Amino acid sequence: MTQKVRTVLEEADVVVGYGTYIKLVQDIVCKDAEIISGTMGKEVERAKIAVMRANENNKVVMVSSGDPGVYGMAGIVLEVAAQEKTTVPIEILPGITAASAASAILGAPLISDFAVISLSDLLTPLEKIEKRIELASQADVSIVLYNPQSQGRIEPLTKAYEIMMKHIKPDTLVGIVRQAGREGQTAKITILQNLLNEEIDMVTTIVIGNSATKLVNGKMVTARGYDLTT
Ligand SMILES: C[S@@+](CC[C@H](N)C(=O)[O-])C[C@H]1O[C@@H](n2cnc3c(N)ncnc32)[C@H](O)[C@@H]1O
Repeated sequence: MTQKVRTVLEEADVVVGYGTYIKLVQDIVCKDAEIISGTMGKEVERAKIAVMRANENNKVVMVSSGDPGVYGMAGIVLEVAAQEKTTVPIEILPGITAASAASAILGAPLISDFAVISLSDLLTPLEKIEKRIELASQADVSIVLYNPQSQGRIEPLTKAYEIMMKHIKPDTLVGIVRQAGREGQTAKITILQNLLNEEIDMVTTIVIGNSATKLVNGKMVTARGYDLTT
């Protein structure tokens, strides 16, 4: 998080968020603040509560992980606030998204063009996800996969793998980062062909390099094309 996020958390009257994320920030939040912690799948309910408490003249912080504008809560809060016709000012404070955090741990795989695709088919139909994977694979851009796989949702990653293997060379470097920046962080660099043999879950971000991605002293680096001899 940025210093600005830390400051608003310290000054908040009410902090709303998914329980796992609330736990990560509770040491920063003022002891007198009201904490409203919710469960996965209740995002609309949380956004409505946050807007209601803001309308009651409280300084409310809605906590999201990484960057709230990347598969986070920013959009839903703005939509609910518009629906409720609230005049309370809303500020979106950016954070470090998993793609940036994972990229930094792996080296510099996203130094050139890249695509970010979520494999969650809860809100996006699988056919649409497959089309996005297909087009990104053909474009020779690095690809970042969010929400890659959960215990009950394996098909999207298998499908994505099959599509990528049609267009991307099997020995292309792939970085797999779990729990980036958190306790238990792990990172591994492998090749596309071996992707499905790795431990992948919902706290994993996968970075598939492009045709210019190589290993540099154990780090995953996408060459931008600079001439290093000059
Ligand atoms: C609903 S998205 C939220 C993304 C978040 N708003 C962000 O900007 O990073 C959840 C997915 O983000 C990725 N993610 C979030 N935090 C992560 C972390 N600490 N390490 C690795 N991946 C993470 C995983 O792919 C996870 O399934």
